[in-house]
Amino acid sequence: MTASEQDPQSLAAAAARVLAERSGVERHDIALTLGSGWGKAADAIGETVSVVPAAEVPGFHASGVPGHSGTLRSIALPDGRHALVIGARTHFYEGRGVRAVVHGVRTAAAAGARTMVLTNGAGGVNPAYRPGQPVLIADHINLTAASPLEGATFVDLTDLYSARLRGAAREIEPALAEGVYVQFPGPHYETPAEVRYAGIIGGDMVGMSTAIEAIAAREAGMEIIGLSLITNLAAGIQETPLSHAEVIEAGREAEPRLAELLRRLVAVL
Ligand code: HPA
Repeated sequence: MTASEQDPQSLAAAAARVLAERSGVERHDIALTLGSGWGKAADAIGETVSVVPAAEVPGFHASGVPGHSGTLRSIALPDGRHALVIGARTHFYEGRGVRAVVHGVRTAAAAGARTMVLTNGAGGVNPAYRPGQPVLIADHINLTAASPLEGATFVDLTDLYSARLRGAAREIEPALAEGVYVQFPGPHYETPAEVRYAGIIGGDMVGMSTAIEAIAAREAGMEIIGLSLITNLAAGIQETPLSHAEVIEAGREAEPRLAELLRRLVAVL
């Protein structure tokens, strides 16, 4: 049986077993997916115990995106808990299907994680946002027209991005803005008309990840917190053309501050 034929939950369980064997860490308490700009947090939150190449864990693929690392990293937190950093995000636009997109989240849940931290780089739609600013995800709008759930799996998303965890984040950084994240399929950036539309329907930032992953994390019973780094103003809001290099550069500049925010946040999650 190939990985793509296996049912998603047993593939995630197989991945969690390999992860436990390879890392020597039986159970992880919290998991993080670190998007553009958030990578340094992996070094800040604790001591790295083990780095497992994602390609050696069932169901994972080496990342095709420059700036994304392709590893699963096990980190011992100062309080004795263990965090799993999923540095192998598969994006919807890679065309491997939604099962691949949410395999990291499902593996984290199978590894024992009850809390999922999802981060990303996003384009700012809300005119008050500035590049380099982190924004808490209050809610999302999923414009991919895809769900990670299969069959008649009805999952409530009323409090998808935990009010409790958002409160914890605002205690650490009271000025943290909260906004609605709109996931587009990508990989092209949005047109200015699509960005205007995203704003009209209630969006504050646009990106190409996170919403589908959050749904799978909720299905798995995890408590979720989401954070976007505004890497650029979205198309039409900024006058110059968008580039991936610009997104990476903005991420690099903001990294030390974001790492410190996540270090303090993870300690209280
Ligand atoms: N649009 C979509 N995804 C993004 C953007 C954007 O403007 N910036 C970073 N990721």
